[in-house]
Amino acid sequence: MESTFSSKPSHMNRETEEIYEKMDWNNLGFGLTPTDYIYVMESTNGGIFSEGTLKPYGNIDINPAASVLNYGQGLFEGMKAYRREDGGIQLFRPEENALRMQKGAERLLMAAPSVEQFVNAVKQTVLANKRWVPPCGKGSLYIRPLLFGSGAVMGINPAPESTFLIFTCPLGNFYKGGSAPMNLLIEESVPRAFPEGTGGLKNISNYSPVFSVAKEAKAKGFSDVLFLDAVDHKYVEEVSSCNIFIVKGNVISTPETLGTILPGITRKSIIEIARDLGLQAEERKVPVEDVLDADEVFCSGTAVGISPVGSVTYHDKRVEFKTGEGTVSQKLFDMLRGIQTGALEDKHGWAVRIC
Ligand SMILES: Cc1ncc(COP(=O)(O)O)c(C=O)c1O
Repeated sequence: MESTFSSKPSHMNRETEEIYEKMDWNNLGFGLTPTDYIYVMESTNGGIFSEGTLKPYGNIDINPAASVLNYGQGLFEGMKAYRREDGGIQLFRPEENALRMQKGAERLLMAAPSVEQFVNAVKQTVLANKRWVPPCGKGSLYIRPLLFGSGAVMGINPAPESTFLIFTCPLGNFYKGGSAPMNLLIEESVPRAFPEGTGGLKNISNYSPVFSVAKEAKAKGFSDVLFLDAVDHKYVEEVSSCNIFIVKGNVISTPETLGTILPGITRKSIIEIARDLGLQAEERKVPVEDVLDADEVFCSGTAVGISPVGSVTYHDKRVEFKTGEGTVSQKLFDMLRGIQTGALEDKHGWAVRIC
């Protein structure tokens, strides 16, 4: 399957060209690397999206009265393109990201692209940037779709127009064979989300209010914080950018999604994969005690994949968990990554091959 966007970019973007020449594909990190093209599609005043376009990577113009800048009317998504062993490229469940963005847009009163427009735009953007998809096993191309109120408004109102934009960035593997387990701190005072709030959406304004608690935890040597529910302060919810699972015997459990936790696409896939592997998978309230008593704990998300948790600290008590070879999280990771990269049979039809 070849595409119109498969060749080297026709324009010469000096900045990305120089970066590309210097790429060390064996040692990809987690920083921002600009790639050749972004995709931009703007809605009309009536909220209709028509044709979008690919543009060279660069800054965008925005009106100072845009509602995203003033009122935080914005959403983002995170997905990845994976290089197969045969050199092809595939996406993982992209329609799920489209649907999640539509749900967020409904809440924020914004027009959103249709599932078809979203998936088509992602495919075009990845194909235009295909030389940036890392070799199989070295990482993946992170895809960041944004939807924001770009129309100018005065007064607390939704923008008349919104913009859908996609940029991409090659990223290394977060999970390196179990060698870097996360050490989490349970955050007791600041909740991330509230009942009837927007925790269940990828709303841009969910993230910066918890920068400070994550920063403090990192300064103390933790990888991240694990948030508790805002009502009882005793049930775990999720980490800043990933969902959480605990393993006890043959059962994996993860907090149920009732509006305060992001319904992760990786989380949803793990539940199905676990059942395929003969494990019992539960979505329920998970009290802190169950975490401390678990055999294993792991995080899930597009960026982290499946990342084992080596320890959880609560009230100055640090509890350690099994990680590495032979663990349930390793088995789930192998299965998930195998499906994402085309190395294993995809009986659910989750992979979308684009070239
Ligand atoms: C708060 C939060 N939770 C969980 C996730 C994991 O979701 P997914 O598996 O869809 O990437 C993310 C990342 O998107 C996130 O930002």
